[in-house]
Amino acid sequence: MQLEIVSKIDNEPRRYLFDCMTGESVHAAAERASIRLPLSCKNGVCHICRANLLSGTVQSGNQRQLVKAELKGAEGGLGTEIMLCKTWPETSCVFEVRNIYGPGELPVKTIACQVLKVEVIKGHVYQVDLQLPAGKIPEHFAGQYLALNLAEREEPAFFSIASRPGLRTITLHIQADPHLESAREVIHMLSSSLADKTVVSVNLPFGEACLVKAPEKPLILMAAGTGFAQMKSIIEHLLSLDYSHPIALYWGVRKQEDMYLQGLAQDWSDLHENFQFKPLIADIENIKDNAHHNQLSDAVLEAHPELENSMVFVSGSPKLVFSAMDALTEAGLPETQFYSDVLAYASRD
Ligand code: FES
Repeated sequence: MQLEIVSKIDNEPRRYLFDCMTGESVHAAAERASIRLPLSCKNGVCHICRANLLSGTVQSGNQRQLVKAELKGAEGGLGTEIMLCKTWPETSCVFEVRNIYGPGELPVKTIACQVLKVEVIKGHVYQVDLQLPAGKIPEHFAGQYLALNLAEREEPAFFSIASRPGLRTITLHIQADPHLESAREVIHMLSSSLADKTVVSVNLPFGEACLVKAPEKPLILMAAGTGFAQMKSIIEHLLSLDYSHPIALYWGVRKQEDMYLQGLAQDWSDLHENFQFKPLIADIENIKDNAHHNQLSDAVLEAHPELENSMVFVSGSPKLVFSAMDALTEAGLPETQFYSDVLAYASRD
């Protein structure tokens, strides 16, 4: 059966089509399609999952009564009201729902955060912890990023979220080498907010290279430098779900001190049989041209000659990402299984 959900987000009409198996609830079918319907009690009581059945026949309610779409007209509203958590389609149906988000879609929110920590992890890499207001934790998917709006800067600064979704404290990793003026400025401003106990404003979430749901296939994660932050969020999220498929992390840095959380990655590897970690440190003094860009791809290709069934996330410079995409797709990885936020904002030139 095919189900259709019509909705509006920010006054923009949306339409989602997905399949539903016999005996499957609307909620379960939507979840399989990575479509997020509002859900709370799952018992037909809170009405948060209220929808209008515009066409088709369903069984609905705790007693699974047969309900047919009925067009009531303007005064009675359009369609027949049902609770989607307790609805099992009998035929193809069309529903109207408020507040629905498709794969990769979450509302971007502006939130004032308290700065809890600005500390060097190793070398010039800092850990920044931001605390969200109680009861106002905005949703994000593992692997997404945020925009930090600092009063003294005209432009927002974008950083991957290194913590997993659902936590009140959001962690960032910021590389602030002496020559990275902008990053040093951000660290200076955040340190001032920490000392003065003033709040900073963030917008989130952003980014399509993220996990809307746990993938049902092996995962290969390739990170360069602080690109590790995005992978950390993905890994900690999946490990918290007892994900059972293999996860392989390839982390490349230019010098040893840039591998700022090697012990954490090693701990994941020691504690979880399905997790494998390969650190790669470039000998940057003696390396020629862009050879360090290929180091990550070469290591992945050597360990994973069969890539057809894998899902790959890459975080690094545009050059590194495009060279990884070329190498891996040439070796058989379908392009649709290659994810990087670079693809959304950078071109090859
Ligand atoms: S989730 Fe509460 S009524 Fe459906």
